[in-house]
Amino acid sequence: MNWFKDKNVNLDVLKKKAFNYRWAEVGEGIIPLTAADPDYPCAPSIKKAMMDYIEDGYFSYTPKLGLPEFKTSFSNYVLRRKQEKIDPEYVLPVDSAARAMYIIAEAFLNEGDEMLVFDPCDYLFREACLAAGGTAVSVPVSMDPVSRKMDLSKIEACITPRTKMIGLCNPHNPYGLTYSVEDLDYIMSICEKYHLYIMNDEIWSDLIYPDSDFNSIYCLGNERCHRVLSVFGYSKSFGLAGLRIGALYATDSNCFKKLVDASQVMSTAGGATSISQIAAIAAMNTTEEWFSAWMKHLTKNRDYAVEFINQIHPLKAYKPKGTYLLYVDISELGMSALEFTEYIKKEVNLAIIPGGHQFFGSESEGHVRICFATSFEILSEGLNRLKKGVEKLTSTQ
Ligand SMILES: Cc1ncc(COP(=O)(O)O)c(C=O)c1O
Repeated sequence: MNWFKDKNVNLDVLKKKAFNYRWAEVGEGIIPLTAADPDYPCAPSIKKAMMDYIEDGYFSYTPKLGLPEFKTSFSNYVLRRKQEKIDPEYVLPVDSAARAMYIIAEAFLNEGDEMLVFDPCDYLFREACLAAGGTAVSVPVSMDPVSRKMDLSKIEACITPRTKMIGLCNPHNPYGLTYSVEDLDYIMSICEKYHLYIMNDEIWSDLIYPDSDFNSIYCLGNERCHRVLSVFGYSKSFGLAGLRIGALYATDSNCFKKLVDASQVMSTAGGATSISQIAAIAAMNTTEEWFSAWMKHLTKNRDYAVEFINQIHPLKAYKPKGTYLLYVDISELGMSALEFTEYIKKEVNLAIIPGGHQFFGSESEGHVRICFATSFEILSEGLNRLKKGVEKLTSTQ
């Protein structure tokens, strides 16, 4: 079954329903390769599970700590796919991965506590810390363009007596990197030395290419992970962003209790909707075939896009090991990332995400991020526009 044909992207629907810098928010004629949200509909088995649930017509309260099936499905899923041993008792469904990050910060940071945030990295790490009254301390983590390894050597110098937590985005958005066991061991050793908590975000961990591996921090053994507070989400792998569903998980009972308290699920003010939990359960239990087809499609898109962009002088695209995001160096064009994305939108009707403080931290200036979770047809049209825009710019320079 080919779920990922060009014609399966329904632009009429996307233009009504896909927000957050995407089809419903950009002007007519603009192609958005922006927010990390697929252009394809979710797996049919997820849709069916939701329809079956709706059929009964009951939308009663759920258990405060989540549907038991969500918790066991999650525990089985991460064991099967990533060899993570997580007790279902320490899994909590919440209304998005973003919320899970905010809850972790709220539970473990006090006013003025410092959190180390890699720069570049997704802005949610910084924002979660700030929302909890913490101070976000940027750790510059450059990437070697040849080995594609992240430089972790500056972490320790950023630690002060107020440092309480470090953010780990694994795989890393926007670099598309995964971490080696040695990298994770190094990060963990620092956390052990300074008694730091780890905000471990694995939302991208399903989206790993056949030529790469994913190592979770839990591969170091649960004994070392009692201060690891983890996040998973269903927006990226399964296209369920609008359902606002994610999971918080841990291995230590005291830490988990703190997360539950901060989540406000016990008062019913927090938590994930029943229908979203049902969708996530179906995502974890019924999408294996669909998901391999999705990865096959994404691999084709990735390989095409990286090669194509690297032929556009003077851009440089890094081949991601995971995620469906391309991190592209535009620094030789001699304009800021924001100037470039504005120019490209106006000149060739293509929307992409600029590097710089707002989305990924100031170390990402001189770069843009391109999402390729779309049809081959839309991607190639988008990249042709990028080429045309850059050629126009360089021919007049
Ligand atoms: C690293 C990372 N964490 C969290 C999120 C937010 O996911 P959700 O839609 O589940 O809030 C994103 C979305 O781009 C992300 O890239």
